[in-house]
Amino acid sequence: MAKVALITGASRGIGKQLAVDFAQAGYDIAALARSTADAPTKLPGTVNETAQLVEEAGQSCLPIGANLSRVEDLDAAIAATYDRFGQIDVLINNAAIAPPGKALESDRRQWSLAVEINVNAPFYLTHAVAPKMASGDGGAVINIGSGAAVSPEFGRASYTTTKRALEAMSESLASDLKGTGVSVNCLRLELSVWSEGYAFTLGERAKEMDFEDPVIMSDACLWMVAQGPEWTGRIVTIADLRKYGAVRPRTRMSWEA
Ligand SMILES: NC(=O)c1ccc[n+]([C@@H]2O[C@H](COP(=O)([O-])OP(=O)(O)OC[C@H]3O[C@@H](n4cnc5c(N)ncnc54)[C@H](OP(=O)(O)O)[C@@H]3O)[C@@H](O)[C@H]2O)c1
Repeated sequence: MAKVALITGASRGIGKQLAVDFAQAGYDIAALARSTADAPTKLPGTVNETAQLVEEAGQSCLPIGANLSRVEDLDAAIAATYDRFGQIDVLINNAAIAPPGKALESDRRQWSLAVEINVNAPFYLTHAVAPKMASGDGGAVINIGSGAAVSPEFGRASYTTTKRALEAMSESLASDLKGTGVSVNCLRLELSVWSEGYAFTLGERAKEMDFEDPVIMSDACLWMVAQGPEWTGRIVTIADLRKYGAVRPRTRMSWEA
């Protein structure tokens, strides 16, 4: 039976690429995001389009329309994935938001939304999935972090704060879960990878920038999963992983939205 990866933020960008490349590697996929064929958002991409690509790669895909800021959506997403596949071997907490502007000029709701999506949802999903992984064949949780976690000058305080918290949470959960067969690691993405969402937030500036291809995130995540459960509690960057030979050399992608 194929292994199963639940990937959040899989309607576009890095999450969509992860879904397709994990499928190429033989995984069935649960692809979660808000944008669905029935309820698309203003940016391109839906979980149904991702599901079609996964199926073209020869694997099964469960497209899940869910809002990570709603706990009832999280519970329903987990239940639907176990109903469909019976197991989750890899959880990639990839979805995030990066509210622009200075923290003190934004309202409380915007701050708490960043906490809900960037920290609470990864915790709640891990809370639901890790015990089942531990009582089964084990598994891997990968949290997608950001170089902004250690760059206060990035100018998006809620993003920096929540991405730093995500790193601490990864280390703490890894410590709690040591010896259970479940790894928890954080990939601190320290460079610019092309995605529809990132290009949109950059606006005209995106046209002057060089991005890396999102395929490097698949190299990284597939390699991290392959290290097995003892490789846990790590916060790694793409530069670190390139030193290990885990990620292909520098890729380039220019603006294409
Ligand atoms: N691109 C980069 O250069 C870069 C650099 C550093 C770190 N990262 C990290 O890499 C990850 C992916 O980034 P990306 O550039 O691919 O972003 P993106 O293109 O903006 O995609 C974000 C994904 O998250 C989903 N999402 C957002 N809010 C959600 C919600 N409330 N409920 C469910 N899904 C939600 C979006 O889908 P819907 O809108 O359909 O819900 C989308 O699929 C993020 O964790 C980001 O912080 C990216």
